[in-house]
Amino acid sequence: MSKFINETVTYVHHWTDRLFTIKTTRSDSLRFRSGEFAMIGIEVDGKPLVRAYSIASPAWAEELEFFSIKVQDGPLTSRLQHIKVGDTLLVSKKPTGTLVLDDLLPAKHLYLLATGTGLAPFLSLVREPEMYERFEKIILVHGVRHTEDLAYKDFFENELPNDEIFGEWVREKLIYYPTVTRDEFKNQGRVTDIIKSGKLFADIGLPPMNKDDDRAMICGSMAMNADMSAILDDFGLTVSPRMGVPADYVVERAFVG
Ligand code: A2P
Repeated sequence: MSKFINETVTYVHHWTDRLFTIKTTRSDSLRFRSGEFAMIGIEVDGKPLVRAYSIASPAWAEELEFFSIKVQDGPLTSRLQHIKVGDTLLVSKKPTGTLVLDDLLPAKHLYLLATGTGLAPFLSLVREPEMYERFEKIILVHGVRHTEDLAYKDFFENELPNDEIFGEWVREKLIYYPTVTRDEFKNQGRVTDIIKSGKLFADIGLPPMNKDDDRAMICGSMAMNADMSAILDDFGLTVSPRMGVPADYVVERAFVG
């Protein structure tokens, strides 16, 4: 029996020549927790060509959403970027992952720390009611190279705060903090640097991270994940050692290729 479900593409949006979003149907049998990833892809020469992608839609949604980079010589994304509405997307039957609320101990604040397409799992979690029930403030930091790479900026700044279901929670609890490294922008610097220097905390009016009040989720490149983990360790936070063991922070790499 195949490990994959055939979903149908319902929407494709190209943000830039390097970033795009795909939405598909969602089969009733596909169950996951907000923040998890699935293997997704297409059939090439009769065989599935798949990579791990965080599911960007929340667990309750009727459709699936994925946020992808385009790597011109990447085996999958060089092809996937040409996918069209009506095409088939393979989605693995058993999503899993570490970026789940179940693996965080209770606290006041939750930091969602992303670079690039590492934003994807947090697009799911910001539409997860449990997150707003469990935390007083949620700080979503998205670090990118160029301002045009701030995909979903309008979603965070305009759409979500006015959402019928989430608007009130979002306006009260969610702080969206985009930061750019290679263009002029209101917030500049690497996610890691603005946390280490304290600039982020000064800008948002919260105290530096500490074990009593703060929890975090990290999703970026391997280097970003490692550098950020070291910083959180220095703040005294403890990483979840494996799935199902709650701790102060959880980490996952953005799967691309
Ligand atoms: P920079 O412009 O200084 O390289 P990428 O597209 O390469 O994944 O980068 C996305 C964003 O992540 C960029 O702003 C980049 O900054 C930043 N970045 C790259 N490596 C790290 C790292 N080790 N720690 C924190 N941010 C990083």
